Amino acid sequence: MCGIVGYLGKQQAAPILLDGLAKLEYRGYDSAGVCVYNDGFCVSKTVGRLMNLSSKIDGGAALTGHMGIGHTRWATHGAPSDVNSHPHIATNGKIGIVHNGIIENYLSLKLFLTEHGKTFLSDTDTEVAANLIEYLYEEEGDLLKAVQMAAKQMEGSYALGIMCIDRPNAMLAVKKDSPLIFGFGEGENFIASDVPAILKYTRKVVYLNDGDMVDFTADGATFYNSLGEEVSKTPENITWELSAAEKGGYDHFMLKEIHEQPKALRNTICPRIKDGRVRMDYLTLTEDDLRGIRRIYIVACGSAYYAGYHGKYILEKICRIPVEPMLASEFRYADPILDEHTLVIIISQSGETADTLAALRQANSLGARTLGIVNVVGSAIAKAATDVIYTWAGPEIAVATTKAYSTQLSVLYLLALYMGDLMGTLSTEEYDAMICALQALPEQIEQTLTAEKLAAIKDMAYDCRDNHDVFFIGRNLDNPTCMEGSLKLKEIAYVHSEAYAAGELKHGPISLIEENTLVVAVAGVEELFDKTMSNVKEVKARGANVLGVTTENMAEEICKTVDRCLLVPQTHPLLQPSLNIVPLQVFSYYVALARGCDVDKPRNLAKSVTVE
Ligand code: AGP
Repeated sequence: MCGIVGYLGKQQAAPILLDGLAKLEYRGYDSAGVCVYNDGFCVSKTVGRLMNLSSKIDGGAALTGHMGIGHTRWATHGAPSDVNSHPHIATNGKIGIVHNGIIENYLSLKLFLTEHGKTFLSDTDTEVAANLIEYLYEEEGDLLKAVQMAAKQMEGSYALGIMCIDRPNAMLAVKKDSPLIFGFGEGENFIASDVPAILKYTRKVVYLNDGDMVDFTADGATFYNSLGEEVSKTPENITWELSAAEKGGYDHFMLKEIHEQPKALRNTICPRIKDGRVRMDYLTLTEDDLRGIRRIYIVACGSAYYAGYHGKYILEKICRIPVEPMLASEFRYADPILDEHTLVIIISQSGETADTLAALRQANSLGARTLGIVNVVGSAIAKAATDVIYTWAGPEIAVATTKAYSTQLSVLYLLALYMGDLMGTLSTEEYDAMICALQALPEQIEQTLTAEKLAAIKDMAYDCRDNHDVFFIGRNLDNPTCMEGSLKLKEIAYVHSEAYAAGELKHGPISLIEENTLVVAVAGVEELFDKTMSNVKEVKARGANVLGVTTENMAEEICKTVDRCLLVPQTHPLLQPSLNIVPLQVFSYYVALARGCDVDKPRNLAKSVTVE
């Protein structure tokens, strides 16, 4: 949600800002703007896609200057409109800013500032931040001090890029709870919400901590911590290529990322298995700690929550500890009972989801052990959790997660094996069988993504494109897989769909089944296959059009009953969800295409949900 970028150097700023913003499009936005300094602030902003902004300023050529800030906005305070778009300039034209985040106390600050002569053109909280900094700058005569004071007064989240009319060769940036990186170039420096925005120009970046501020010119940067003390920062070297965040010949990022799943799983799994054993020695969780754990919560949002829901079955089966999956937005306000005997596992691709981050902070403050499963290195959640296990999925750009979700599942398997081993709850045979199955998963996913299989799913998707209501049913581990499959269809194809535990159907939802209602039945849990088949027969008897998903070894039985069947290879029963989800991802992708949807940038959605 929202992306910011800033440039200061010898090149023309505007084209670099536009290029950077294009790399941040994945975050979700509805308007965009840039401000370049050239003996004053030259601002251009517009509602809609970045290409509108680019044409308005002739690809950047219409705005000359060597220092500038840019923004993609996902509307929160005020509708998407030109006037609400960023950058915002304060009343007396001294301060120009871009902002990612939400200033929660903006109304009281606005009242105060209005009483002190400031005027407002937009409905945004950001214009309040610009005016607050300007007001304090006018009072104090020192921009650094003004920004530090403003940071103390603003409640909420912010990553701010700040230019001041009196400082033509310097820029400031400050952050709290929204991501911000600083990039070191040669005679030029950058700020951005994420690495892809500046990777073309530099690989040397610093991930700013909450409360950090950076004051920089083209040739150098000074960092300050939340106490206003000067601190030194050592840049990290980004090792991945920009191509990892580009489409690489695929029509959509989502399709590319679906195909990247085998590689993402290999990267996540292989380095953690040595000599047939899961190695996570870097975790601070000891055998004694684990023996003391009485309860596990798995807390996340959206797909990450569904991945975590599988964790309930996997961890309970292997470690014999009660596991409760909870939506982060609910966990926060549920007054959870936590102590040092509780392990809270937090799952997040972006590492910056507002509800998930808040839940993590709550768990930390209540004394629970916290463990993050995170994809974005150096993100807020990765930093705040006591322990972190990274999913090495690489940059995920499509709003609909695929490879990050798959790697989250794989980390849960690894974690369960690691914990089960330490706690002695797993037999050697079972442990070895799971390790073998885990190592074979990437290749089995490749088998589900052959051209022939994709073509068959595409045909089915085209046939199903006009279904308005779709039901996903499955039992046990298939239940959260259904939830994820249903979410995929909703979010990218805009098809209403619901997921039910198959046994629940006859307690209400079956009344919605009528002639030709599409039911996707996932029957991947072998020991419950007959039960799921009974539920399939119940919906068939009421006229449903059933698409079955099952393993090759159970194909014969299911194919007799359902209208269409998608088969996946068989693996260890606890790992089967990793294979069952793949055809559902592909199915949603092709339904979305058939319905003419913007697959990578679905309406109203953002990749990183940084608001409550
Ligand atoms: C998944 O396709 C969604 N885009 C969404 O549900 C996502 O999983 C959720 O917002 C959580 O995001 P996170 O993993 O970055 O925390």
